[in-house]
Amino acid sequence: MGKTYNVAVIQGDGIGPELIDAAFIVLDAVTKKHDFAILRTEVDGGAVTYERTGETLSAENIEVVRTADATLKGPVGLPHVRLADGTEAGLLGGVLRNGLDLYANLRPIVLLPGVASPLRVEPGSIDYVIVRENTEGLYAARGKGVGNSWAVADTLLVTRAGCERISRFAFEIALQRSGSPQDGVRRVTCVDKANVLRSMYFFREVFLEVASEYPGIEVECLYVDAAAQALVMQPGHFDVIVTENLFGDILSDLGGGTIGGISLCPSGNIGDACAYFEPIHGSAPAIAGQKKANPLGQILASAMMLDYLGELEAGNAIRRAVATALSSGSVRIDPLGGAIGGPEVASMVIAEQL
Ligand code: IPM
Ligand code: MG
Repeated sequence: MGKTYNVAVIQGDGIGPELIDAAFIVLDAVTKKHDFAILRTEVDGGAVTYERTGETLSAENIEVVRTADATLKGPVGLPHVRLADGTEAGLLGGVLRNGLDLYANLRPIVLLPGVASPLRVEPGSIDYVIVRENTEGLYAARGKGVGNSWAVADTLLVTRAGCERISRFAFEIALQRSGSPQDGVRRVTCVDKANVLRSMYFFREVFLEVASEYPGIEVECLYVDAAAQALVMQPGHFDVIVTENLFGDILSDLGGGTIGGISLCPSGNIGDACAYFEPIHGSAPAIAGQKKANPLGQILASAMMLDYLGELEAGNAIRRAVATALSSGSVRIDPLGGAIGGPEVASMVIAEQL
């Protein structure tokens, strides 16, 4: 018998629980086949938890996540559950990303076979990863906005240590990849706004310092507005993108829009000692329980979790099964990103492929 991994599971709000169920239909199939086991520890967290207990995630449960081998998380948050400052109370980014110092948010953007892109491009021609800085940038202002009824300020903060470690993370990812789909060149693109903001010039300068340690990788800097255009007009050019927190948030949804929707997009929140994996989309309470949600982002997030645990073959097997299910038409995505037949049906089809 192979290894057993302790995995904390945060089901989340809205469509979260049905997505986690779907992901475990696939995980159960893959663990049997690849001879390892997952020991699940359920962890309450999110907007419903906040409504019930006054805390989004208890200190005890943060500890469970911190000490687990990895955590699989569904989307959290409900639009009506808000803090006094107007921001959503049910989110976990503050406690998990900042609290556990998970500084790298890894967001692969891949056009899979059988998925219609709104762009005129072939499957295989979009395959890049956004490395979103996950602990500072404009999100450093989370919970710390200052103001009154005339004016409000949120402060964008970047530190040398923060810029350095995220840049290095991006170059290390580039070394594991095989370059951009267009020309096979290993390339890291720094996306910033160094023409206008001092903080962004600083981000770029530190990035270029780190770049000098990686002579084999092509380096490029793009302003975020130009990057938004390029991700639509020449997505095949990109290999690895490293960027500030809010820019990474926005550009990853833009990227999702080019590959069939954010419902197909997984992510990993990764630090030096722990990590959690989740889809990049929200909890979609309006469609919860209606057999409409698309579980692929959650299933692909569980594949990223297996990569992180060192079960690379199993992670690849899930990605292959998803690709086969989509290209054969046995899992179909509607134009708004839902899975036709619902999450359970889609995950059973994928589990069968395994
Ligand atoms: C994401 C999400 C979160 C973010 C929300 C839910 C706070 O959009 O992970 O991209 O903005 O980081
Ligand atoms: Mg987002």
